[in-house]
Amino acid sequence: MYGQKSEPARPRDRSSAVSKKVFIKTYGCQMNVYDSKRMADVLKPHGYSSTESAEDADLVILNTCHIREKAAEKVYSEIGRLRAEKDAKAADGKNMYIAVAGCVAQAEGPEMMKRAPAIDMVLGPQTYHRLPDMLKSAEEQRTGGRMSARVLDTEFPVDTKFDYLPTDESAFEGAAAFLTIQEGCDKFCTFCVVPYTRGAEYSRPVADIVDEARRLVARGVVEITLLGQNVNAFHGDDGKGGTATLGGLIAELDKIDGLGRIRYTTSHPRDMDQELIDAHRNIASCMPYLHLPVQSGSDRILDAMNRKHTREEYFRVIERLRESRPDLALSSDFIVGFPGETDQDFEDTLDLVRRVKYAQAYSFKYSPRPGTPASVSEEQVPEDVKSDRLARLQALLNEHQLEFNEASLGKEMDVLLEREGKREGQLLGRSPYLQSVHVNVANADNALDAAGDKPYTDYMGKLVRVRIVEAGPHSLKGELVRALN
Ligand code: 5AD
Ligand code: SF4
Repeated sequence: MYGQKSEPARPRDRSSAVSKKVFIKTYGCQMNVYDSKRMADVLKPHGYSSTESAEDADLVILNTCHIREKAAEKVYSEIGRLRAEKDAKAADGKNMYIAVAGCVAQAEGPEMMKRAPAIDMVLGPQTYHRLPDMLKSAEEQRTGGRMSARVLDTEFPVDTKFDYLPTDESAFEGAAAFLTIQEGCDKFCTFCVVPYTRGAEYSRPVADIVDEARRLVARGVVEITLLGQNVNAFHGDDGKGGTATLGGLIAELDKIDGLGRIRYTTSHPRDMDQELIDAHRNIASCMPYLHLPVQSGSDRILDAMNRKHTREEYFRVIERLRESRPDLALSSDFIVGFPGETDQDFEDTLDLVRRVKYAQAYSFKYSPRPGTPASVSEEQVPEDVKSDRLARLQALLNEHQLEFNEASLGKEMDVLLEREGKREGQLLGRSPYLQSVHVNVANADNALDAAGDKPYTDYMGKLVRVRIVEAGPHSLKGELVRALN
C-alpha cells in the first residue's frame, strides 16, 4: 500500500531528467482528456516524453472511465494485451510499468490489483499529482526483485492536486482547449457513479483559473471550454472574501484579450442561475450553446433518478434561456430504460424532446453501475425494450439535429478553424453552436486562399467568417468570407 500522507515536492523541485516514454490511453469524458494532458505535464520534468504506442513506452497509463457498461472488463482486456508487451520487455531486461488511473481505478482499485498482477500502480482522479513519487516507489520495489510493483493511491487528499500541477507551456496544441474549474458532485443521481469516483464538489479559486486561461491564450488558444462534472454549481474563491458563480467567472475570463470563445460543460438544470442565463446575452465570448442534460421527460422517472427537478421546471429554465439568447443551441443526455420506466414514461421523454428540439444530444440505455441505488432496483427493464426505445429516441433526435443544421444554410457564421480537413484546401472548425464545419479556404490550385493572398494553412487556429453552403446530419460545409483575427 502507498501510505504517504505528505504531499510531493512541488514541480519546481525538478529531479534530474532521464529520457523515458509514457503512453497514456484515455477513455471517457473531456475531464479525462484534460487529466491525461496534466499527467503528461507532471511527468515531463521527470524525463518522460509522450508516445503514441505502448511498444516503446516505459510507462503505460490507462486513464479509465466508469460511466459506460463493462468499463472494468475493457480495462482488464487491455491489461492482458499490455502484459504480453511487459513480459517481452522483461525478457530483454527492460522495465515497463503499467498504471491504471481515473474512475475505474478509484472505484475498483484494490480488486484490480488482486485480479491483474501486471498492474504496478493504481491512482484515482484526485491523486495523479503524486505520480512521480508513486513511480519512485514502484521502481524501488522492482529493484528489490519483484516483477510488478504494488502501489495504490486512491485517496481524496485535503490538498488539491491543482496546487501541484505544472503546465507545459512549450507547445501550441490547438486553438481550442479544456480547463477544469470544478470537480466532483454532491447531487447523487441514483444511476451515477460520479459522486463516488470523483468525490464531493470542489471549485478552484478564480485567480488560479484566470491564470491558467491567460497562459492558454498566450499559447494561441482562442476558445476555452470550462469543465466540471457539475460546472454550473461552481462557487470558487473570488479572492475578495467571497465566492464567484460561473456567470461571474465567465465575466472575469471575458476580460482576457485574445480569448474569443468561452464554453462550459456539464450543467445541471437546478444550478442554472439568472447570472449565468444573462451571461449568454451580455457576454459576447459566452457561446450560444448549452449542454443541459435532462435524462428523462417523465416526472416519475426524474424523481426516481433523484434529479431534483420536474419537467415543467426544466421547460421554464429553457424558456428563460431562450428569452435571454433566442438563438441558443441546446444539447442533452438521455437515459432510456431506467428501472421502472413504462411506455408512458418513455412517451413523455419523446414529448419533451419534441417541445425542446435539441441541436444535438447523447442518449444511452440504462446500465446498472455497481454501488448505485438504481442498480439494485427490482424493476429493471428488459434489454430488447431498452434497445427499441433507444432506436426510437435517436431517430427523433437525429431528425431534429438535421433540421437544426439545415436551418444554417445560406447563413454566415464565425468558425474557429482547428485542424486540416480530409480534402486539401479544406480546414475543419466549429460554429458558435458547436457544429463541425468544413471550410473551403483554398482556391483551385490549393496554394492560396479564396481571396488569393494567403496560404490556406495560415488560417489554422483562426476565427473566420464563413457562408454555409451545405448541411448534413453531422456537419456543415462553408465557404470563406473573410478572416476575423
Ligand atoms: N447508465 C446509462 N447512462 C448513464 N449515464 C451516467 N450513468 C449512466 C448509467 N448508469 C449517462 C448520463 C450522463 C452521461 C454522462 O452518461 O446520461 O449524463
Ligand atoms: Fe452524476 Fe451528473 Fe447526477 Fe452528479 S449531477 S450524480 S455527475 S449525473
